[in-house]
Amino acid sequence: MLSSNLQLITIIVLILPIIAQSLLTALLLKEAGIKNVTILEYQDRVGGRVYTHYFTDDPNDDKRLYGEIGAMRLLYVDGRPDLTQDQLVFDTIDYLNEYNKVDNPEMEIKTIPFILSNPNALYYFNNKKDQNGKMMTKNYSTTANVSQLGYPDNIPDNYLSFYDEAFAPFFKELDQNFTNGLKALEHYDQHTVYSYLNEVFLPEKLPTKWNDYDEIIKAIETNLMGIG
Ligand SMILES: Cc1cc2nc3c(=O)[nH]c(=O)nc-3n(C[C@H](O)[C@H](O)[C@H](O)COP(=O)(O)OP(=O)(O)OC[C@H]3O[C@@H](n4cnc5c(N)ncnc54)[C@H](O)[C@@H]3O)c2cc1C
Ligand SMILES: *[C@@H]1O[C@H](CO)[C@@H](O)[C@H](O)[C@H]1NC(C)=O
Ligand SMILES: *[C@@H]1O[C@H](CO)[C@@H](O)[C@H](O)[C@H]1NC(C)=O
Ligand SMILES: *[C@@H]1O[C@H](CO)[C@@H](O)[C@H](O)[C@H]1NC(C)=O
Repeated sequence: MLSSNLQLITIIVLILPIIAQSLLTALLLKEAGIKNVTILEYQDRVGGRVYTHYFTDDPNDDKRLYGEIGAMRLLYVDGRPDLTQDQLVFDTIDYLNEYNKVDNPEMEIKTIPFILSNPNALYYFNNKKDQNGKMMTKNYSTTANVSQLGYPDNIPDNYLSFYDEAFAPFFKELDQNFTNGLKALEHYDQHTVYSYLNEVFLPEKLPTKWNDYDEIIKAIETNLMGIG
């Protein structure tokens, strides 16, 4: 009775907070025998915040350039499965690959390693080159002094250590006792990394230099994170 009723209902699959969750929900409902599912989508493509932009149109060109405009990284911590928050997504990928193996092998989802940091990565900012007039590497830019990097001279020499100094206490707490570590983080939940440095860490570290906070954070983010 229940299942025959469900066949008549058009189920609107709502948005849940995991990558492509609503499409997955639809698939699971279909597997459960509920065939009459409608997904409402506002855009003219699927994927939501997962969005690959291709620079040419030919889908058969396996060398075409593409860029990930939205989500692209899944966290995997070697040797620490307890820290792999994205296990659910990895499991989902396995599930979908298993599902498509027979009917749609070309739909296989492949993951590739994503290198977060490389000492030989090329850096270019403030029109600066390295001591030999070559393009800077990450390694050079994290060891060069403030004037070699073209930063304003109000940036303290030890600016790169501020990042670790600001966030190490949170990591330490998380390592010692995850529950307590999360509590400590929740206390600052309203903050971004920027606002934490700007409003909490730097006022304590350099109480008289509030005029320089913005430049200091910009220098850290440019050099350390490549996002300044
Ligand atoms: C730039 C960027 C980088 C990111 N990087 C990562 C990353 O590296 N790793 C990671 O895990 N996460 C990352 N994320 C987060 C991740 O993309 C999202 O958490 C995830 O995609 C959310 O999935 P969702 O299905 O909940 O929502 P969404 O992907 O936002 O899907 C919502 C869908 O609902 C549609 N919709 C909205 N309103 C309506 C309406 N009224 N009627 C009909 N349709 C509607 C939208 O068009 C969209 O297709 C990133 C996000 C961004 C923006
Ligand atoms: C990084 O730079 C330092 C000093 O400039 C050098 O001694 C070291 O070999 C470099 N390391 C890499 C991986 O390039
Ligand atoms: C930065 O390093 C260069 C090269 O080693 C040196 O000539 C310069 O005096 C240094 N500047 C400062 C402000 O330390
Ligand atoms: C972490 O701390 C909480 C108290 O906040 C305590 O109840 C819990 O047992 C601790 N966990 C470990 C693994 O020590």
